[in-house]
Amino acid sequence: MSVTRESFGFMPDGTEIYKYILENDAGTQVHVLTLGATLQSILFADKNGETKDLLLGFDTVEDYLTKSNYQGATVGPYCNRIGGAAIDIGDKHYELVANEKGVNNLHSNGEFSYRPWKAIVPDADRVELSYVSPDGEGGFPGETTVKVVFRLSQDNRLSIRYHGVSTRDTFLNFTNHAYFNLNGYASGDILGHTLRIDADRFTPVDAHSIPNGENMAVEGTPFDFRTAKKIGLEIDADHEQLKMTGGYDHNYCLCDAPRALTEIGEAEGDLTGIKMNIYTTLPGVQFYAGNFLSGKEGKGGVPMTKRTGFCLETQFYPDTPHRPDFPSCLYKAGDAYESETVYAFSVSAKDENA
Ligand code: GLA
Repeated sequence: MSVTRESFGFMPDGTEIYKYILENDAGTQVHVLTLGATLQSILFADKNGETKDLLLGFDTVEDYLTKSNYQGATVGPYCNRIGGAAIDIGDKHYELVANEKGVNNLHSNGEFSYRPWKAIVPDADRVELSYVSPDGEGGFPGETTVKVVFRLSQDNRLSIRYHGVSTRDTFLNFTNHAYFNLNGYASGDILGHTLRIDADRFTPVDAHSIPNGENMAVEGTPFDFRTAKKIGLEIDADHEQLKMTGGYDHNYCLCDAPRALTEIGEAEGDLTGIKMNIYTTLPGVQFYAGNFLSGKEGKGGVPMTKRTGFCLETQFYPDTPHRPDFPSCLYKAGDAYESETVYAFSVSAKDENA
C-alpha cells in the first residue's frame, strides 16, 4: 500500500490543490483531490486485465470550478434538496440559498464541494481531509468541522468515513457525489449496467423533486431493483415519477435509522465485468442516472453526455428538515455525526472469448 501526493493546480486565490493517490499491491488506485474532498479517479483492472477509470471527472481545477455537476465531490453540510430553501430549528429560522430553480436548496449550493480542504496521511492506506465551515456559511447554523477519510484496502474496498460536528444544533447530511461508469468513463452510457438496490420503498417527489409525502412500494414499478436488472430496461417507462425527473433520480429507503455497515446493492459494467458492491450505515441512497449530464467535456476531453455515469449517493432522505416522519439528521451542538460507505470492487468471471 502507498499514498503519494502531487500538485493538481491552483485555486483562483493561489491556494495549491493536491491530488493524493492511494495504491494497493494489486495496482488499484484511488485519486482524491483536496478540492472539495473529491474522488477524481478509481483505476481498476477489468476482466481482460485492462485498467479502466471508473469515475467521471475533470483534469483541471478550473474545470472543477466551472463545469462540474458535483462529479466525485463531497457534499455538505446538507446534500440533496431542502424544499423552500429554509430550515427551522427550535425557534430559529435560517434562510439558505435557493440555488435550484429559485425554490430549493440543492447540495448546500456546493458549500463543501468547491473549497480547498486540508489533507493528512494518517496511515499508508488512507488520506484524511478536513474542512471547517464558518458559522452561517451558506445560511447554515454553526461552525461545522468535517473530516472525511478515504481508505483503500488490499482487497479493493474503498471506504469513506465521515465525521462532523457543529457548534450549534443543525442538520448534517454528507455524501459523495461520484458518477460511476464501470465500463470506464469514456465508454458511453450506463444503460447496459446491471443494478441491484435492496430497498422495498422509495420517496416519490413533486414537480420540484421534493418528497411528496408518499412512501411508495417499488413492487410492480420500474423502481424495483431488488433483483438485479439493467438500468436501461425501464428508465423511459411510462411512469409518472420517471417522467417528473427525466429518469431515475430518487431516494431509496434502506432502513429507518442509521445502523451497522450493511450491503445495500451491487452494480456491474456489462463491457468490463467490473462489479461494485455498496455498503453503508445510512438510511437512504439517491439513485441518480445522470439524466442531466449535458455533454460538457471531462477527463481527456471526453463529453459527459446524458446518462454516461450513475450515482448512488448514500444519505439521509431529501428534505428531512421538513419531515418529522423521516429518519432524523438533526445533531445537537457538539454531538458527532458519523457514517461510513464502502464501494467494493471486483471482477466477474474472465471473458472466455477475449
Ligand atoms: C443529485 C440530484 C440530481 C442532480 C445532481 C447534480 O443527485 O438528485 O437531480 O441535481 O445531483 O446535477
